[in-house]
Amino acid sequence: MQYRRLGASGLPISALSFGAWVTFGNQLGRGEARNLIAAAWDHGINYFDNAETYANGEAERVMGDVLADLRLPRDSWCVSSKVYFGAVDHPRPTQRGLSRKHVHDACNAALQRLRVDYLDLYFCHRPDPDTPIAETVWAMDTLVRQGKVLYWGTSEWPAHAIREAHKVARAHNLVAPTMEQPQYNLLHRERVELEYAPLYSEYGMGLTIWSPLASGLLTGKYNAGVPADSRLGQERFAWLRDALLDDPQARRVERARKFTALADELGVGPAPLAVAWCLRNPHVSTVMLGASRTEQLVQDIEALEMAGRFDDATWSRIEAATA
Ligand SMILES: NC(=O)c1ccc[n+]([C@@H]2O[C@H](COP(=O)([O-])OP(=O)(O)OC[C@H]3O[C@@H](n4cnc5c(N)ncnc54)[C@H](OP(=O)(O)O)[C@@H]3O)[C@@H](O)[C@H]2O)c1
Repeated sequence: MQYRRLGASGLPISALSFGAWVTFGNQLGRGEARNLIAAAWDHGINYFDNAETYANGEAERVMGDVLADLRLPRDSWCVSSKVYFGAVDHPRPTQRGLSRKHVHDACNAALQRLRVDYLDLYFCHRPDPDTPIAETVWAMDTLVRQGKVLYWGTSEWPAHAIREAHKVARAHNLVAPTMEQPQYNLLHRERVELEYAPLYSEYGMGLTIWSPLASGLLTGKYNAGVPADSRLGQERFAWLRDALLDDPQARRVERARKFTALADELGVGPAPLAVAWCLRNPHVSTVMLGASRTEQLVQDIEALEMAGRFDDATWSRIEAATA
């Protein structure tokens, strides 16, 4: 495994990490979740991602039980949660968002579900138009000073809102956000490469990026329809299937087909190749993997070796094929 600093912070996290979205509390039982976390750990992964909203808190319960059961020393791994969407169906007004109240309540609930005394990383899962940014920055600063959170960050915030958070933190000597958690993959590049470009040097912002395989599209499994045993084959994720596949302008399947044909020509698996491409971006502190089977995770980890295998011309061909 390779370890990278989380942005300008001193925290060394594994360049590949592992997240619980869709799988924990939904697709997988505790035994399979345990095998996946154990395999991740055996390969040097030291960072596990979660959120209050994943399976309405059940994903955190499963991860907390597994981490406790594996008895890994608490100072050898990092875990994150995210606040914003709430942890119940149809949340009441105070059960969601980034108000001081919900940030406080959601953090305490995540600590309980994950069975930890502190969260290493804590994210504001989306911007909240109904809460002043200053209130959220103060709330996060309080959690850090209480020892409940070590590093806080944002997820899918526009660049101007991240700037505003830094401005507030600077003005009041508060702990500023360390990292952002955006989507980044060969089919989705603009925010990370263009919108955020000035923020890396300005604020030392690190990235924990999500959906490196575009929910599996870049493995080629959707090239000829939707397999029933895949993420997009699940009825409860019909909204995701529609968003990814029924968008003619984005041409995602067509681009994925070209990508997988090129991976074939290069003689490598498309999944690790797509992850390797993400690893090559120096602003990426960690690529967060998702997997419904241990074999997938092990295959995706081959990306570490693959990132250094090809020359620039080949990577340009890969980018051109998916443009
Ligand atoms: N901040 C946010 O808003 C946000 C949003 C999304 C995700 N995240 C985080 O980022 C993590 C990773 O995102 P993601 O799960 O969307 O990542 P992803 O890599 O784009 O998709 C992972 C899914 O692709 C399939 N897959 C993975 N490796 C494969 C392989 N080698 N061969 C075939 N299929 C393979 C599996 O689905 P199936 O086998 O079920 O088809 C797996 O669950 C999440 O777990 C979560 O922690 C954050």
